[in-house]
Amino acid sequence: MKLILLFLTISVGFISNEEEYKFITKYIDVPLDHFSFTVNNTFKLRYLINDSYFNQDDPIFFYTGNEGDISMFAQNTGFIFDLARKLGALIVFAEHRFYGETLPFGNASYSSPQNLGYLSAQQALADYVYLINDLQKQYGKNVDIIKLPVIAFGGSYGGMLAAWIRIKYPYAVTGAIASSAPIWQFQGLTPCENFYKIVTDVIRSLGSESCVNTLTKSWGILRNLTKTDKGKTDVSNTFKLCQPLKNQNNTDALLSWLSDIYVNIVMINYPYPTSFLVPLPGNPVKEFCQAIDSSDSTGDEDLLTAVAKGLEIYTNFTSSVKCNDILADPAPNLGYLGWYFQSCTDMIMPICSTKDDLFEDYQWDFSEFSNSCFKKFSVRPRNEEVPILEFGGKDIETATNIVFSNGLLDPWSSGGVLKNISSQVVSILIPDGAHHVDLRSSNPLDNEDVKVARQFHEIQIKKWLDKYYFHNLPLDVYSEKFKGRF
Ligand SMILES: *[C@@H]1O[C@H](CO)[C@@H](O)[C@H](O)[C@H]1NC(C)=O
Ligand SMILES: *[C@@H]1O[C@H](CO)[C@@H](O)[C@H](O)[C@H]1NC(C)=O
Ligand SMILES: *[C@@H]1O[C@H](CO)[C@@H](O)[C@H](O)[C@H]1NC(C)=O
Ligand SMILES: *[C@@H]1O[C@H](CO)[C@@H](O)[C@H](O)[C@H]1NC(C)=O
Ligand SMILES: *[C@@H]1O[C@H](CO)[C@@H](O)[C@H](O)[C@H]1NC(C)=O
Ligand SMILES: *[C@@H]1O[C@H](CO)[C@@H](O)[C@H](O)[C@H]1NC(C)=O
Ligand SMILES: *[C@@H]1O[C@H](CO)[C@@H](O)[C@H](O)[C@H]1NC(C)=O
Repeated sequence: MKLILLFLTISVGFISNEEEYKFITKYIDVPLDHFSFTVNNTFKLRYLINDSYFNQDDPIFFYTGNEGDISMFAQNTGFIFDLARKLGALIVFAEHRFYGETLPFGNASYSSPQNLGYLSAQQALADYVYLINDLQKQYGKNVDIIKLPVIAFGGSYGGMLAAWIRIKYPYAVTGAIASSAPIWQFQGLTPCENFYKIVTDVIRSLGSESCVNTLTKSWGILRNLTKTDKGKTDVSNTFKLCQPLKNQNNTDALLSWLSDIYVNIVMINYPYPTSFLVPLPGNPVKEFCQAIDSSDSTGDEDLLTAVAKGLEIYTNFTSSVKCNDILADPAPNLGYLGWYFQSCTDMIMPICSTKDDLFEDYQWDFSEFSNSCFKKFSVRPRNEEVPILEFGGKDIETATNIVFSNGLLDPWSSGGVLKNISSQVVSILIPDGAHHVDLRSSNPLDNEDVKVARQFHEIQIKKWLDKYYFHNLPLDVYSEKFKGRF
């Protein structure tokens, strides 16, 4: 059974020449279980803080960490720094429990279902509320207002958390910027085939029709050839695999490795070179298809050679990779296993493919999915409705002060909020944008759409802050210190 799991984690892209951001690392003891009074354990949650742009009464800009080491997100969310410099703010990046160094049971965190059971979005949100409360005590005391306003920021799963923390805990957070946050990529909210359709459309429009056709054909050819031992050897050589294919499982692994790469190339189709999982040129989709289209693909083996050549844009951009290890952890910095567990419990995101996309057909089958989860973690998803029961599905009209932003090149926009829900829950579209490109610091190669989105965020945040100070300060203090500031 094929599992579609970790796409969310390809949420960042380093630019090698980008500024390195500096922080002080701190820890806070948080309850292991926020929802029980009979479990008293606590653990140390790591957070990164920068108070260089903070003055008394300033807001807190709070990044709701997602499924990876928080320092990586902190280095890839320059927008928050740009804004803090401009407006004045305390910058905090909080690490999600069970990722990075925030391991509640140390190196035993992943060793039993009992321990892993404390990994969930709900617990993580409660951690953040707990930390925000502590920050208020540290930084909000002796000022004119009781609590500092807090703006939550997040991208991808972190964007989902940013939106949800505002929805569930409006007392703790004043407003949220939720970038590329697929809060509707759940059962019954979004057709499961939309994700791969977007990947296909982007490859067609930025690459070419023939590129789509070549990739579409490749699956059948791969299945056919790998039926024989000689075919397995040939395919292993064509794709320069470190370990030659031996069995059906290896073939399955190769195919899912390939489809993950196609998704990644689309998701991080930034206009400038990045080097997150791997060094990648700017506009990688175009480069990928150019390499494929410029190779002969008439015969079956030629076609696979053409695909393998395109793939090198992603796997071998530096020309220094000897062979492709399809079984290696695709993203050591990211919590692959943790996300796998979450997608088996509270973040069940159905994804499937049909004849309308370039991927091998693949149906979403909840019970099969559930079985694979049980095999891996001895845990089953309770039912497919869990995320909706916990976070409210499409019924978010009563929320306020949230901006959802989505790059339309990003396959995750399939589950995003692409329309305005109300005057206070709004959506901004970035037609030429990839995965949460708007949270990155500005770049000379940014297109207009991204600049507009960042301006939009800034205007909304200023509006929320102005209103907050107006409501929470005596009028004379507001008039003297805050009127017109935001
Ligand atoms: C905050 O970030 C800026 C930019 O990286 C850096 O110059 C400054 O030293 C940092 N301050 C702290 C307290 O780390
Ligand atoms: C939790 O802490 C309280 C107060 O210290 C104590 O009375 C109680 O026995 C503890 N419960 C557990 C399960 O440790
Ligand atoms: C976990 O850490 C402890 C203490 O540092 C060590 O003794 C043990 O071998 C480690 N276990 C694993 C599975 O790494
Ligand atoms: C697979 O192989 C069979 C038998 O050689 C052939 O008829 C069929 O067209 C092949 N399919 C593909 C997709 O290459
Ligand atoms: C192939 O994968 C299945 C399911 O994960 C497993 O039960 C089986 O042992 C594997 N077979 C081989 C030859 O690795
Ligand atoms: C990477 O590129 C180099 C230089 O062209 C080549 O020798 C090597 O085989 C390539 N490796 C892979 C995995 O494609
Ligand atoms: C939502 O409303 C804003 C104006 O507040 C507008 O700029 C934006 O384009 C609208 N979004 C969508 C998806 O229509």
